[in-house]
Amino acid sequence: MDTEASLGSLPGTGRPIPEAEPSVVQQWSSAGGELIELLSLVRERFGGIAAFRLGPAPTVLVTDPHAVQHVLARRPERYVKRSHRARVLIGDGVLAATGAAWKRQRRLLQSQFTGTGMRRYEQRITEAARTTAGRWDGFARAGQDLDVGQEMRRFAVDVIWRSLTGHPLDDGTERELAAVAAVAAALPTLPADVTDAQDAVAADLARIDAVARHAIEAARSGAAGPDGPGLLHVLIDAADERPEYTDQLIRDELVTLLVAGHETTATTLTWLYLLLDRHPAAREQALAAGGEGSAERRQAIQALVHETLRLYPSAWILPRQANEDDTLAGYGVKAGTDILVCPYLTHRDPELWPDPAHFDPRRFTTPGGRPPHPGAYFPFGIGPRACLGLQFALRESTVLLEHLLPLHTPAFSSTPAKAVYGITVRPDGPTPATLESPLTPG
Ligand code: HEM
Repeated sequence: MDTEASLGSLPGTGRPIPEAEPSVVQQWSSAGGELIELLSLVRERFGGIAAFRLGPAPTVLVTDPHAVQHVLARRPERYVKRSHRARVLIGDGVLAATGAAWKRQRRLLQSQFTGTGMRRYEQRITEAARTTAGRWDGFARAGQDLDVGQEMRRFAVDVIWRSLTGHPLDDGTERELAAVAAVAAALPTLPADVTDAQDAVAADLARIDAVARHAIEAARSGAAGPDGPGLLHVLIDAADERPEYTDQLIRDELVTLLVAGHETTATTLTWLYLLLDRHPAAREQALAAGGEGSAERRQAIQALVHETLRLYPSAWILPRQANEDDTLAGYGVKAGTDILVCPYLTHRDPELWPDPAHFDPRRFTTPGGRPPHPGAYFPFGIGPRACLGLQFALRESTVLLEHLLPLHTPAFSSTPAKAVYGITVRPDGPTPATLESPLTPG
């Protein structure tokens, strides 16, 4: 039964949302706290739908699974994405687009990330995983240090670059694409106005534009890579029939897929290695689940990824704005209200996840090990704006780990003490390690 219908309330009517007193926010702010600390406090004290004020208007924090589903999946037309912070970098790409333009862009890309579309990336993912495994063998033989975070980033960029262009990532392009990470890291501190923000990171944007222009020209000249045409060719072909696919939009879509498609996966894999360092038995259990290439092992490795994403969902906060009055789980929400949906806090709710801080991949392999509600676990979002790259991300992560886990265990010489809650939640600092290897294949 639809709970909202049963309440019979008019949109916008309902009980007032419990709100943190100004003193709570003041205390947090004068202690120089991180946003996540305020959100955790508000969630703990006021529950799964709670408000606080950073300015004159309230912001509503949503962590209750039913309310999460309402906002993201049941009534997404009432809770829209605000002007995206990353617009300075990704322009009108599908992640930031809204309305009819978003619908058209999403439809074109959707077919590339499911079913037969996905099969095209299989070979490229395997090649990129083999390249990383080969590099790790080299590090191990030479007794040379590596940085796990950097390695994961390199792998994720290689996979998405191959998928977009059909070419493996070369050193020159990799160097230039460091500008993407530089702009992404600067985003939270940039001026709100897009033009001012663009000025502040103009040099890095120029480097990104040059890489994009070069890739578009190469694809247009018919030069498919060794793995055949890439996603970029699909966008270029689309331009033949759809005038909206201008060079600017093709650039925006290319950069969007580069950004959305690597930082998230790379940080997830880095967290996974940091978690395995503290829970070595989880690696043993995954490898013991079945032999090389077996469905059992694949499933156990995927559970490592899911449990990592539960504790560190890289897109840890999903902002929306109510564009009309609504009733949310019996509470009145006014048009214009800012909403923060927070998978990070939902995934750590002790009422949903027993002993939530504990890393236990068996939650995802044991029947009944995880709460069944779609709003209780949603690292890829839910609803029409959910992640386009879900299958892609799970596939590339699993294939890489199938290659690396049996042979190499990084021994970290230091690990970051805390997390940074920026555009993604990531380890705060480098992750240097040596490889204890080669191990006997598991
Ligand atoms: C572990 C890896 C990943 C995580 C945790 C993740 C998470 C997410 C989340 C939570 C959203 C929804 C944001 C919202 O509702 O506001 C999203 C959207 C998106 N993701 Fe991912 N993502 C990952 C990997 C990828 C990859 C590999 C790609 C591309 C190859 C990708 C492409 C996209 C795109 C294009 C969107 C925007 C969809 C739209 O607005 O219609 N993601 N992602």
